Amino acid sequence: YENSASIEDAGIILVNTCSIRENAEQRVFGRLDRFLQEKKRRPVTVGVLGCMAAHLKEKLLEHPAVDLVAGPDSYRRLPQMLGMIDSAHSSQVDVLLSKEETYADIIPEKSICDGITAFISIMRGCDNMCTYCIVPYVRGRERSRDPYTIIEEAKKLYLKGFREVNLLGQNVDSYLWKSSDGNLTFADLLKMTAQIAPDLRVRFSTSHPKDMSDEVISVMASFPNICKHIHLPVQSGSDRMLSKMNRKYDRERYMDRIYKIREILPEATITTDIIAGFCSETEEEHGMTMSLMEEVRFDSAFMFQYSERPGTLASRHFPDDVPPAVKTRRLNEIIELQNEISLERNRRHIGQSFVILVEGTSKRNKAELYGRTSGNKVCIFPAGDFKVGDYVELTVTGCTSATLMCANAHKVNHD
Ligand code: 5AD
Ligand code: SF4
Repeated sequence: YENSASIEDAGIILVNTCSIRENAEQRVFGRLDRFLQEKKRRPVTVGVLGCMAAHLKEKLLEHPAVDLVAGPDSYRRLPQMLGMIDSAHSSQVDVLLSKEETYADIIPEKSICDGITAFISIMRGCDNMCTYCIVPYVRGRERSRDPYTIIEEAKKLYLKGFREVNLLGQNVDSYLWKSSDGNLTFADLLKMTAQIAPDLRVRFSTSHPKDMSDEVISVMASFPNICKHIHLPVQSGSDRMLSKMNRKYDRERYMDRIYKIREILPEATITTDIIAGFCSETEEEHGMTMSLMEEVRFDSAFMFQYSERPGTLASRHFPDDVPPAVKTRRLNEIIELQNEISLERNRRHIGQSFVILVEGTSKRNKAELYGRTSGNKVCIFPAGDFKVGDYVELTVTGCTSATLMCANAHKVNHD
């Protein structure tokens, strides 16, 4: 098989899906209707992969466009399943979850990407059972990937010209590899990745406030190429909500992590996830989320309305009783406050200098390039003679709540 540039040229269409909120799933159903039109014109095989496959097997099979349904742990069987569809003309399903599968020995072909920044999956699944969250049900048990295959993948990417790797897991702080030589933690893995090359940037997400250790913060401080950005989802500022969400930390513990990060990594960017209108949330508890946002002053945030997910503990035991209009109003208040804080956080950078890794040409203006600071802030600057993959030092001259506008760029070399 090879990749095609457009749907019209494709013989097989595979949709990779997310189930985290209901609107993600609705978008996929919209897409399947579109593929059905394509299917009426010519023979084409349509497969749904990922979390929705695990969550909605039957409903997907009922859709006239769908020939194949494969859950997150079934991708090794894709060639075989596609072969069966061709030879037996029957639809194929495999949504079994595994306790072991990490795809450790499968190194993705990244040659079709722009080739500067890459994502590496270091673990799969999640055992945290936050009461609102469907991930443990569709991704299965938490398991860590063999660290030597992670390092091998990162080294291969570096040799291909990649200059940034992003280590991914639902809760990277609980990464653990047990072997006869002893246990290897996330802090160890981070160190090993950072040692590959001084001009390979290392990022990671997601950290969990209940597990994030001082050691990880110290490792970040001791390697200049580990980017100074921590994504630390808080979800709510109310202890009653945090407990009802089964997050296993309270506001005090969360603030303790923030103070620790600010003490050891004063320049670090801190971002978060927030849920508005979780079951039985009162106006006062919503106010506590807003006051926590004021207290921390996050650089940016992903903000959501609570969306009830079938099968979760919350859906079984807690009524989804905050009216939609109230959820929307609370979310809008949260977004408005965060926009003000993001703008203020970015304004502090005006006049400061940063080293960025050039990632591409700005979508708005071809004469401009963009890249990110170590703290993950997007910078836009005049293209000059710079190219993708260069490290460039520049000065911030202006900003919006989402972007830094920069000038006085010059190339920097790593020796
Ligand atoms: N409703 C709304 N937001 C959710 N998230 C996870 N589950 C839900 C849900 N049922 C959010 C959390 C998490 C992010 C990835 O998605 O904030 O950190
Ligand atoms: Fe979901 Fe909680 Fe696991 Fe994150 S830590 S994936 S919110 S269950």
